[in-house]
Amino acid sequence: MKSEMEANILKVLITEEELHRRVAEMGEELYRRFEGKNPLFLGVLKGSFVFMADLVRACQVKSDVEFIAVSSYQNATASSGRVQITHDLQQDITGRHLIIVEDILDSGNTLAFLRQYFLTKGAASITIVTLLDKPSRRTKAISADLSGFTVPDEFVVGYGLDYAQQYRNVPYIGVLKPEVYTHG
Ligand code: PRP
Repeated sequence: MKSEMEANILKVLITEEELHRRVAEMGEELYRRFEGKNPLFLGVLKGSFVFMADLVRACQVKSDVEFIAVSSYQNATASSGRVQITHDLQQDITGRHLIIVEDILDSGNTLAFLRQYFLTKGAASITIVTLLDKPSRRTKAISADLSGFTVPDEFVVGYGLDYAQQYRNVPYIGVLKPEVYTHG
């Protein structure tokens, strides 16, 4: 029997196995790039929490983790363009090599804002890692240094990504049925 959440999912876009395989590759790639540099994995909450947890375990480099929480969608389906920090850094990042971990790069508003913010805070380098990239929606000149999957302009949920704060615990990336977000 389908769960209440599964019934609202139109199709599976990326399976658990595909996620696992790609995240392992990304972890190894980051190991090669950051071995000996003591990077700081910086997750952008909330969406990145599942990817972050898997990525740091796939990358056995000496490092530490930090989080920042921002909001620009305010439960809408398109970015408002105004990025607000809702939970700020809890440590000094001066001179650190940052690995920013995002679940999805969409318009680019969030990362354009954060890149500037981290530079003003004194980061030594900034590497943008995103699980999903939706280049068709980009409005800011920003791109990922490492991306897991390029996705079409569909409403994706699961593996940390939400609709109205739900579906984050779906273990794969799925496409939501349009009637879910057009009729509530
Ligand atoms: C999502 C996602 C990114 C951002 C990407 O966050 O996690 O941070 O949108 O979109 P952009 O490229 O258009 O800025 P959201 O504001 O939905 O918050 P959440 O992470 O708490 O789900």
